[in-house]
Amino acid sequence: MRTPTLKPHLNVSDQTNTSVSRKKRSFKPSAEFQRQANLGSMASYKKLHAESVNSPDTFWKRMANEHLVWRKPFTKVCTWKEPHAKWFTGGRLNVSENCIDRHLGTARENKAAIIFEGEPGDVRTITYRQLYFHVSRFAHIFENMGVGPGDRVAIYMPMVPEAVIAMLACARIGAVHTVIFGGFSSEAIKDRINDCKAKLVITADGGWRRGKVVELKSTVDRALAGTPSVQSVIVLKRTGNPVTMQEGRDIWWHDAWKGGPNHHKAKAFDSEHPLFILYTSGSTGKPKGVLHTSAGYLLGAKLTSHYVFDLKDTDRYFCSADIGWITGHSYVVYGILSNGATLFLYEGAPNQPEPDRFWEMIDRHGLTILYTAPTAIRAFMRWGDNYVLKHNLDSLRLLGSVGEPISPEAWLWYHKMIGKGRCPIVDTWWQTETGSIMISPMPGATPCVPGTATLPFFGVSPKFVDDKGKEVPRGTDGKMVITKPWPSMLRTLWGDDERFKQTYFSEFPGWYFTGDGARQDKDGNFWIIGRVDDVLNVSGHRIGTAEVEGALATHPAVAEAAAVGRPDDLKGQALVVFVTLKTGHAATPELKEALRAHVGKEIGAIAKPDQVRFAAALPKTRSGKIMRRILKQIASGGEVKGDTSTLEDFSVVAALQAED
Ligand code: WT7
Repeated sequence: MRTPTLKPHLNVSDQTNTSVSRKKRSFKPSAEFQRQANLGSMASYKKLHAESVNSPDTFWKRMANEHLVWRKPFTKVCTWKEPHAKWFTGGRLNVSENCIDRHLGTARENKAAIIFEGEPGDVRTITYRQLYFHVSRFAHIFENMGVGPGDRVAIYMPMVPEAVIAMLACARIGAVHTVIFGGFSSEAIKDRINDCKAKLVITADGGWRRGKVVELKSTVDRALAGTPSVQSVIVLKRTGNPVTMQEGRDIWWHDAWKGGPNHHKAKAFDSEHPLFILYTSGSTGKPKGVLHTSAGYLLGAKLTSHYVFDLKDTDRYFCSADIGWITGHSYVVYGILSNGATLFLYEGAPNQPEPDRFWEMIDRHGLTILYTAPTAIRAFMRWGDNYVLKHNLDSLRLLGSVGEPISPEAWLWYHKMIGKGRCPIVDTWWQTETGSIMISPMPGATPCVPGTATLPFFGVSPKFVDDKGKEVPRGTDGKMVITKPWPSMLRTLWGDDERFKQTYFSEFPGWYFTGDGARQDKDGNFWIIGRVDDVLNVSGHRIGTAEVEGALATHPAVAEAAAVGRPDDLKGQALVVFVTLKTGHAATPELKEALRAHVGKEIGAIAKPDQVRFAAALPKTRSGKIMRRILKQIASGGEVKGDTSTLEDFSVVAALQAED
């Protein structure tokens, strides 16, 4: 499917066009930071980057040998038969061994791999040795349940160490995990399990969020009524709320735990052995199962963690993303543990019991790195500086941002209030599909300019093109493509290679299309503007408008629905749906609420529309295509501008504007 033409769709998120960005401010890394950095100068960045794009085979061969533990060396670095890439052919390794066993017998063996804090305040520390014991046990348990290499395992868990253990135990036995974000509904779980035919589900009775129990098991139970592939369910007792256990299918985590020995000899798997599937939204109704494989993915996650987070043995690193998203895969689990750092894992909400929970935990645990999202930063700003000023935050040395463009205002607040002017900020651009960070400052090298993700990571070669694929001049908005394969790129979409080709490699043949609009300024810095397709970014969550429309269409009162985004101070984008009703249904406030609840049930709370607007008709072209461009303008309360000559009936627009 072709994405719509460029012009009307850029500026979807206007956050880079603010007064501050025009002032041009640049923040150079301090000499002190540079001295200790894993990469300490612009000259080293330029040298390595040049090598990585000019001699990729030499560069990646060296990196793969330096950073990964191989059981059998690879013979070929990269095979590229567009759109399919294979990396490190002939090589064999075990991803879990690369995250755990490699640290045993070293000074890291008895250091904290994970420091966990639950929302109620319970704290647990797990050393690398203990992590090895846990993962080994569960690797045996999974195998005893008949789960083997290539089998799919669905994980629907709160942010607790057992979620990490479950992922690593899958990796250890070559099973393919699919982590489903704890906010998704039964319907969404069912669709994902059925798409990949998972055999085993790992869940919990519930998790803590804002002082309340989020029930997980009962949600899973409703999904499992329609998932014939599932044979067993392992249930962690976290909250103690009552759950129903189905005899012969469901087993408690703590009962299963009794059964396994502490040691598991990990088998080696092919470099291209599938590691995980992660579902993400696209521009059609059905979520896409992004497939990542072993060696290339792990190298991407490990190398970016080393360079971008400047990760050290002494770091206590905190990423606030849920493991249900790609950030939680690459920068909670794989990139951090493979580097042997200490991971700080927090279960709950940032404002429980008070809006200073993060700052309080940072001081109490002496956390050194914080990686969070602009939507969270905007919430902190709104809650007020006093919550921050109560705390020292002097253990922090580096800050990161991910998920959407960070406005220069938010960047400067983050820098001053949280980083106390001392911590570099890495604004990291990447996607579920890219597996690891693609554009970001190197904190000891790159001058940071608020609002831009700055420069490409090693091996990354982006270009900006117009609708015809012609490169646009510097300073001009274009669609961003990546012209060369990179190790952690997605390999395909699970069960739908055709859609993989169509989505990423058909619009600009030979190049990977990111779906983002961006431009490069005259200093070479990359400014990401936002999606140019029908995908929204609501509080850093990716939501396909087609998915929401599909959900609404299943409600008996709905004749037609169109979902669009409008700029929102807190969420980045808010979701607005325009709905026409079937005859016999009255446009009442109750129905609006019912439609929001319906979307919540079909997809999950994150996709609930912020606003439902009833309309007598939707603006359409003469060929019957809904003109979303116009709906976006109406949703934002702006004037309807641009070409309306293709509009079939202009009075529809006037009527929509008159409505609330
Ligand atoms: C989309 C990918 C990468 C993990 C979290 C989201 C937007 C992501 C940035 C950034 C501007 C960003 C893009 C991208 N995005 N990071 N630093 N600056 N935009 O992963 O759900 O796959 O979404 O998020 O639009 O395409 P995702």
